[in-house]
Amino acid sequence: MKGILLAGGAGSRLRPSTNAVSKQLIPIYDKPMIYYPLSVLMLAGVREIALISSPRDLPAYKNLFGDGAQLGLKFTYIEQPRPQGIAQALPLAEDFLAGGPCAFILGDNIFYGREFAKLLPDAASAAKGARVFAYHVKNPQNYGTVRLDRNFRPLKLQEKPKKPFSPWAITGLYFYDNNAVKYAKQIKPSARGELEITDINRLYLKSGALQVQPLGRGIAWLDTGTHEGLIEASTFIHMLEKRQGLKIACLEAIAYKKGWISKKTLTAAARSMAGSEYGAYLAAVAKEIGGKYDIF
Ligand code: TTP
Repeated sequence: MKGILLAGGAGSRLRPSTNAVSKQLIPIYDKPMIYYPLSVLMLAGVREIALISSPRDLPAYKNLFGDGAQLGLKFTYIEQPRPQGIAQALPLAEDFLAGGPCAFILGDNIFYGREFAKLLPDAASAAKGARVFAYHVKNPQNYGTVRLDRNFRPLKLQEKPKKPFSPWAITGLYFYDNNAVKYAKQIKPSARGELEITDINRLYLKSGALQVQPLGRGIAWLDTGTHEGLIEASTFIHMLEKRQGLKIACLEAIAYKKGWISKKTLTAAARSMAGSEYGAYLAAVAKEIGGKYDIF
């Protein structure tokens, strides 16, 4: 399965921090925000990835990831000329997807939890329809939401509802079969002028092909859209990494543990980041210091 990593957008709530820098390159504690959703695609086993961003920011991503070989990945870069909605990513990636399914993730979504990682391979191997994830939140009015029946089957979807009918927000990770591009071409811009991903999910729901996987208490899904969200996410990652001595979303370590890169490549990455805690961690992973470095 191929992956789409969406890293454009206006980032208007984070101004002036986003006046010259892409939102998804802002650090969450010790690494750029985009590392976290990229690690999710990698844990799902996705290795061919299209990174979509604005004409201003795409060069920075090319500098950061290149062709992806150092992570055992293959990157394609696609421009989104203007931020006209999340669903616009699908037609933009049409040639890249070549009629196949995709794992689509928003570049500002951070997930954490072993149970979450365990759900990914299964979601990636589902042959038909769409699989999305729902998270119980206090502020559903800020998200696309879903009403679920007793058996967690989806009944109805709402985009940023003023009066939410459900506490379940749809997260920014979507597994779609080959109908997604076709659906994206059918939908029209919403009242706020954007092609809404909720409208794609509605078309899947209408055809009876939308599966919603609720994420329970043991899983974290963090918001990075505001300055407060950024500092809270950074504190969360800092606290866990400091306590456990295990890095979260350490891309080279994931690639190495999956057997996608050699020890030599991992050591070269460690050397290129010598002097940083991240570099020291990679060196320790290469030497297996301190026992097993768990990828989840
Ligand atoms: P949003 O949080 O809806 O928008 P934003 O990131 O531009 O921020 P703000 O609301 O403060 O202006 O976007 C969710 C994610 O989708 C985020 O990673 C940016 C990305 N995105 C695009 O890449 N292109 C788009 O056209 C839109 C709307 C969002």
